[in-house]
Amino acid sequence: MSAAAKLAAVIGWPVAQSLSPRLHTHWLRKHAIHGAYVALPVRPEDFGKVVAAMPLMGFAGANVTVPHKEAAFALAMTLDEDAKTTGAVNTLVFADGVVKGFNTDVRGFTAALTESLGADAAKAGPVAVLGAGGAARAVVLALKRMGAPEVRLVNRTKKRAEELACVFGNRVHAATWGDWKEAFAGTRLLVNATSLGMKGKDALEVPLDVLPREAAVADIVYNPLETALLRAARAKGHRTVDGLGMLMHQAVPAFAAWFGVTPEVTPELRAELAKALSGG
Ligand code: ATR
Repeated sequence: MSAAAKLAAVIGWPVAQSLSPRLHTHWLRKHAIHGAYVALPVRPEDFGKVVAAMPLMGFAGANVTVPHKEAAFALAMTLDEDAKTTGAVNTLVFADGVVKGFNTDVRGFTAALTESLGADAAKAGPVAVLGAGGAARAVVLALKRMGAPEVRLVNRTKKRAEELACVFGNRVHAATWGDWKEAFAGTRLLVNATSLGMKGKDALEVPLDVLPREAAVADIVYNPLETALLRAARAKGHRTVDGLGMLMHQAVPAFAAWFGVTPEVTPELRAELAKALSGG
């Protein structure tokens, strides 16, 4: 790799599990771009120093993952609308001495849902969203934009859901974790935006028997690709959307900003990432 190579990275702690290097490397190869995308494990206390040094080392930008998304929001000199609304930055672009912050998760979730269920996926009826963290904020913003008539936020800590409902205003309400019958009544879509069900985390236990038959089920967790929630939903005949779509689609605008080419989400890319997830 010569000094002319374009560089980008994913910064996380830990970051070894990230699929982003594989994803971006696939596109770099496909478009014959002389560049590299690497994973940088960075402790929270070092995040600011690392980001300050990256443009000096020739990086065009970086993805930011757990636990740095709020720190990236605080540090970015400019923010796009979705970053401002969600309070989280997942993409940094270094240009002309400016650190620009973007949240591409909102567009990623929108594109994934549209691809799997159609552009009207959120319009059919109330949507139940599990979680009230940064990921849930991106999901709720996407759902509101897609025209969801009502979003019910169901979070273990109800106060966090109430705070989020306040931020997002009318059409977004807090519901009680455990009171599934009420939370799911009449819904047409259920989205898991918690980290539950992820490899190494606790299982997500929600009773699908109180979910309307017509409701689709989406999970933002992509490792495992078919979470226990999605498996159970599929077995009961619900349409399902896995988390890989959001991961791939959130990467599109980031790659375009760093490398100057808008890449495509293709079945080949999905197959390569699915293979990596299954240990290939
Ligand atoms: P992220 O930015 O990825 O959303 P986060 O802000 O830490 O991460 O949020 C994690 C989400 O998963 C929260 O909604 C959290 O619920 P609390 O607000 O009650 O903490 C949820 N979560 C994590 N572990 C959980 C568990 N064991 N049971 C229920 N919810 C859980």
